[in-house]
Amino acid sequence: MTELSYLAAGVLFILGLKGLTSPASAKKGNRLAALGMLLAVIVVVVDLVLDDSSMAWFVVIGGVVVGTVAGGLLALRVQMTDMPQLVAAFNGFGGGASALVAAASIVAVGAAAPTETAITTALSLTIGTITLTGSFVAFGKLQGILPGRPIAPPGGTATNAILAGVGTVAAVIAVITGDAIYYWVAAAMWGIVGVTGVFPIGGADMPVVISLLNSLSGIAAAMAGFVISNHGLIVGGALVGAAGLILTIEMSVAMNRSIANILFSGFGGGPAAEDIGTKPVKRATADDAAIALAYADTVMIVPGYGLAVAQAQHAVRDLAAALEARDVKVHYAIHPVAGRMPGHMNVLLAEADIDYELLLDLDHANPQLPHTDVVLIVGANDVVNPSARTDPTSPIYGMPILNVDEAKTVIVVKRSLSPGFAGIDNPLFYEEGTMMYFADAKAALEDTLTAVERL
Ligand code: TAP
Repeated sequence: MTELSYLAAGVLFILGLKGLTSPASAKKGNRLAALGMLLAVIVVVVDLVLDDSSMAWFVVIGGVVVGTVAGGLLALRVQMTDMPQLVAAFNGFGGGASALVAAASIVAVGAAAPTETAITTALSLTIGTITLTGSFVAFGKLQGILPGRPIAPPGGTATNAILAGVGTVAAVIAVITGDAIYYWVAAAMWGIVGVTGVFPIGGADMPVVISLLNSLSGIAAAMAGFVISNHGLIVGGALVGAAGLILTIEMSVAMNRSIANILFSGFGGGPAAEDIGTKPVKRATADDAAIALAYADTVMIVPGYGLAVAQAQHAVRDLAAALEARDVKVHYAIHPVAGRMPGHMNVLLAEADIDYELLLDLDHANPQLPHTDVVLIVGANDVVNPSARTDPTSPIYGMPILNVDEAKTVIVVKRSLSPGFAGIDNPLFYEEGTMMYFADAKAALEDTLTAVERL
């Protein structure tokens, strides 16, 4: 029954992941995966009670209650915009839990463990500790407790390589000798690498780091599953490990950057080029924007990080509704890494009840752009920067972008000519067909709506 229940939980996890592939089925997918986890937890507890082992099962139930209450409260209270931090914290606890399972096994079994168990114990311990410490640094950066800019440790990447090398050698000696002290040295070294490895990564790259740490937390859990022979943990951990890795790769591809570049290059947060903001631009007012939008046949709205900062999702919906009432066809073009977390724009627009059928991804939006009358860019910058296509010296060269410069008219809403996360100028702002509307996104959209209603 136990093994069958774990199998059922594994099937529910897979159905859950499948559900998450479309906004229409995402809620159902989430519930299925949660049901799978509930089933797995119940099986563990029932198994312990029936086993009549010396284990104090009421401690396990106490843990389940504390975890459920803490997790439930956190999930209910967290703001949608703070979701990456919550995921980071959950990953950290996941890694920590796997490391504790390994540590308990080292204390209980010690040198008597067979080699394969010793190997999985060392992996669960070291991967679990790097996930724990790395996730909490990522959490601190996203929460603003720690500085978001890249901060390298003394000695830079070489220091991390040495720490990782010592940690690996200690783990190998631990496996060979079974001596607990080497396990603890390995855990300490990898725990430090979690801190010194995540500090040098810029704040806006944290979603990629969190996704990678999520993958590592799954691998640590799968290894812990081998240590205590729990098939549910092995299956669940492997799924998290694989899903997290796929998401990490997808994000890197969407930015045309290698995972190594994201982890080791200290990208973003540096000083911006000096000539930014000195060239002339065509300025627009709310009335200019309203006339262009209201008399267009087709409008494409491109949201970016600034939309999230300004919390302008409801304002954008209201403006779109006013345009639709005038028979303007409105769509939204969503770049895969617009904003600061995967699906950031989808989540914001869903919060404002914008029909997800109107959201076009990069591959569907780009063919539409040459036939679009007006593109309204709201707080996006890097994801619409044509240098990615035209300037081989640009740090974002090769990054797939939304080709908004192919539309007839472009209106850019942002507060200034400041650069985006990549810290580079955007030639789009100086083009003939571009109007710059300098204002906070929410205020600009509300003023434009008022102006449309006056027409
Ligand atoms: P960015 O290129 O960072 O540009 C955002 C723009 O929003 C800024 O130029 C800023 O200009 C403007 N802004 C900020 N607050 C605003 C407000 N209140 N009202 C109006 N505008 C405001 O953002 P993006 O185009 O969304 O690109 C995302 C970036 O993050 C890319 O470089 C991407 O590679 C990186 N990144 C994303 C992810 C994921 S998963 N999303 C992962 C890793 C990296 P002003 O200061 O002039 O207003």
